[in-house]
Amino acid sequence: MSYPDGDDIKLNRRNFLKVGGVGIGTALFPNLLGPQSANAAVVSNALWIPPRISGKTFNLRLGSTTKQMIKGALTKTYSYNGTGFWGPTLVMQKGDDVSLNVTNALSEQTTTHWHGVHLPAEMDGGPMQVIEIGKTWSPKFKVMNNAATYWYHPHMHKTTQKQLALGAGGFIIVKDSAEAALALPRTYGIDDIPLALGSRTLSSTNQISPTKNYGDTMLTNGVVKAQVTLPAQFVRLRLLNIETERVYNLGFSDNRVFYVIGTDGGLVQAPISVRRLLMVQGERYEILVDLSKDKIGIDVSLRAFNKGLAFGYGGGEPASTGTFGSLLNNIDFDVLKIKVGKPTALGVTTLPTTLVKNLFPSQSQVTHSRTINITDNGAGTPFTFDNKSYDMNTINQIVKLGATEAWTIKNDNIFGHAFHIHDVQFKIISRSSGAIPAYEQGWKDTFSIQRNEQVTFIAKFADYASSTWPYMYHCHMANHEDGGLMGQFLVEK
Ligand code: C2O
Ligand code: CU
Repeated sequence: MSYPDGDDIKLNRRNFLKVGGVGIGTALFPNLLGPQSANAAVVSNALWIPPRISGKTFNLRLGSTTKQMIKGALTKTYSYNGTGFWGPTLVMQKGDDVSLNVTNALSEQTTTHWHGVHLPAEMDGGPMQVIEIGKTWSPKFKVMNNAATYWYHPHMHKTTQKQLALGAGGFIIVKDSAEAALALPRTYGIDDIPLALGSRTLSSTNQISPTKNYGDTMLTNGVVKAQVTLPAQFVRLRLLNIETERVYNLGFSDNRVFYVIGTDGGLVQAPISVRRLLMVQGERYEILVDLSKDKIGIDVSLRAFNKGLAFGYGGGEPASTGTFGSLLNNIDFDVLKIKVGKPTALGVTTLPTTLVKNLFPSQSQVTHSRTINITDNGAGTPFTFDNKSYDMNTINQIVKLGATEAWTIKNDNIFGHAFHIHDVQFKIISRSSGAIPAYEQGWKDTFSIQRNEQVTFIAKFADYASSTWPYMYHCHMANHEDGGLMGQFLVEK
């Protein structure tokens, strides 16, 4: 495991300045001289809101950075555009043709993948689209996805866990006219808040241990013990799990009801009221929480109710140390402390009764079915699909362009997983363990699959075909993915 050394960091800082000087614009790197470098001794728990980039051209630069996470030494991180941990939020409009320029300023290879986005395989940023050190990769695509929350992150085979653990990632918010027509909170950073949830382990010198399965310290948008003041009205939270292995059973500290309005790939038909929401790695849910009835000044927390998670749910292991242990395992802990503040002038105070109409592919349209097994050859060996470890030179599945397929994923091994497939948004049609929760019945690209469970989904593979560039399907627990629990498929004419 190699760490960026101090000189690299300085060099990269100089590179940022140089890039700024040659015309990409310093506005892209708003936190270049951010609070962490300006006043290193002060540690703020204020929730960090990623800066936004909107338009049709998006410039990203992944580099080695630092962040003052806790008192003492700076923590060495990877981040896009010098943000210190994570990256800017890319705001895209459905229908736009967008171009991205991603520069690799790390001292190792990387890739950048657009998670959940429907695009040509060549533009996908999977393990095949390596960005060499110092080089820029420039994909282009038409934004075809529905308004929802997506994200980008490295997908370099065998180093995804490390690069993600060190902080590399960012949100993508897609907007469209259907969403714009609804009375939903959408003032970014005020009543519309993206939240990347992921614990990390900090060493005695404040450095992230990038190979730990579970972190001991909760980070929310990279902030330890994050707190925020939110207005007394409906607030929209865009939730994302960026853990290696931990799942979150989310709720509020006072057990209040909240409302799921969106899944991975779009809004749902109508808000779904819940008190708990299970989230595995890579999944997104947009929720509304009603703070309009709260007294100004009260505190309420968004909390992981992870105490009592069954074995197989990542982070349910009742161990505080060791390979599968963590101080946050099998306990309830806060992921965000919220103080209720004054409402804004035009805040949303009523819950919309309906949202959007979704036309999902149905079972009668299925043209092909396939089954994929998550296999396990015993303790100490990595998980695989159908007993084959990921191999860049093997195509595991071939799908015909235009096909509507039913995929059944079977998990007969000892642990739960987070199944994810590129290219498509799908509809889950069955879970062998029982009913599909209402909040999972929207457009999805990632789901939890627990021990002895089978999950079937239907997807249509439209628009993009290639006989050379594959898409990936994999477990989104980054250690499982790096260990070989990944396969690839071609969509062919
Ligand atoms: Cu979020 Cu294949 O990845
Ligand atoms: Cu897994």
